[in-house]
Amino acid sequence: MKRKAIKPLLQAVLRGVQNRHIKSYEIYQPVLLSEGKESDAARDCENRWEAIYRAMQEHGAQSMVDLGSCEGYYVIKAARAGVPFCMGIDFDQRRTFTSTNQVILNDLPNAGFMIGEVSEGLLNAMPRFDTVVFMSVLHHIMYQNGLDHCRRLMQALHGKVGKFLIFEMGQSDEIKESWAKDMPDMGTDPHTWIADFLKSCGFRSIEIVGTTSSFLGEAERALFKAQP
Ligand SMILES: C[S@@+](CC[C@H](N)C(=O)[O-])C[C@H]1O[C@@H](n2cnc3c(N)ncnc32)[C@H](O)[C@@H]1O
Repeated sequence: MKRKAIKPLLQAVLRGVQNRHIKSYEIYQPVLLSEGKESDAARDCENRWEAIYRAMQEHGAQSMVDLGSCEGYYVIKAARAGVPFCMGIDFDQRRTFTSTNQVILNDLPNAGFMIGEVSEGLLNAMPRFDTVVFMSVLHHIMYQNGLDHCRRLMQALHGKVGKFLIFEMGQSDEIKESWAKDMPDMGTDPHTWIADFLKSCGFRSIEIVGTTSSFLGEAERALFKAQP
């Protein structure tokens, strides 16, 4: 059986819809446009991708899941780099429309996206992936549902990490953010607090593989690599 493409006219319509869609809200990550070009975005993602890809090469990772995959930047980067099984999960319909359209419009193999809320139920049912990426999401769950809830979530996630986890989260010293006051107090050294939290969820060999500026720029976030 032969693979078949979408008719050119319909592809052009979908590209028009995608171009209009990404102007209808603030995109967080760069979006793949035609001919390999990328759009601008609210967050600089390139440095984090370089750290993730370095770790994937080091560990020979063959699969990755990105939890809170947003516009799909990391999943698409991994698939374009030749990783054979790449998927993203995000609960936001707008962002999943953007990520899925990039796969379709660029006829990109080995990448896909699912609408889903990261929860204990979802994580228990999820298969194991060599690389699990979980960045800039857990603090949103923590200020709404508390530390114990997040520890249970991370313990469930621990069983699904084949080789390593890439983890980053918002910190209580990001005082320009309205949510910062509802976070557990991470003290004067949030990076050590987060490393201890990961340890308490069962992770080991926790190392900082990069740092990035927080969204509003007032604090430095650490990018952690942790093994199960
Ligand atoms: C701040 S953005 C971070 C995006 C990406 N992980 C990154 O670091 O570039 C948070 C993303 O996680 C998604 N998100 C937040 N809470 C979620 C949850 N409980 N389940 C699934 N997606 C969630 C949002 O829709 C959004 O796309």
